[in-house]
Amino acid sequence: MNNTAQPGMQQNPDFSVDEREAVYRAIFTRRDVRGEFLPDPVPDEVLARVLTAAHHAPSVGFMQPWDFLVIRSPAVKARVQALYRQANEEAAQMFEGEKQSTYRRLKLEGIVEAPVNLCITCDRKRNGPVVVGRTHIKTMDIFSVVCAVQNLWLAARAEGLGVGWVSIFHPVVVKEYVASEVI
Ligand SMILES: Cc1cc2nc3c(=O)[nH]c(=O)nc-3n(C[C@H](O)[C@H](O)[C@H](O)COP(=O)(O)O)c2cc1C
Repeated sequence: MNNTAQPGMQQNPDFSVDEREAVYRAIFTRRDVRGEFLPDPVPDEVLARVLTAAHHAPSVGFMQPWDFLVIRSPAVKARVQALYRQANEEAAQMFEGEKQSTYRRLKLEGIVEAPVNLCITCDRKRNGPVVVGRTHIKTMDIFSVVCAVQNLWLAARAEGLGVGWVSIFHPVVVKEYVASEVI
């Protein structure tokens, strides 16, 4: 364990220098991964660790409005990818000319290749209509979910797991599909 502080670094008895460096390394080397997913299954214990990291995120009024739906079914992934493709076609048409051609060349998802998909939800009614800290800016619940995703993303980096975020969907359509699969 390296406890030698570098110039400009304050001593922190809770973190050795190596531990601190590891945190920064995870932050600086985290990337959005859309391609090159390996087909290897993600061990349950690794998935549990990154999900636990997500659950330790801060949330407004301790609302914890998130749920993480773990999707491994190839059929469900294929359907979700079809929903992505639909939305992505609409997205492409929002750009004109050369920009549209460039957009169409981008790889913006790895839904089917990734061994695990996580559908991350935000229950906007959790803990009732009035939540401490969310009285005036209602989107604070969504901000909280984003904090959870970032925790998961950094933990995944430390675990050597690639993570890619896909947001090109009609949320209502995805919600209806997921509800029909889960219930
Ligand atoms: C809220 C959010 C939504 C995103 N949605 C997508 C997406 O739909 N498709 C995609 O390929 N990347 C998506 N990304 C990843 C960003 O494109 C990526 O984080 C950004 O280009 C910076 O690259 P880096 O994460 O590798 O540093 C999203 C990221 C965030 C934070």
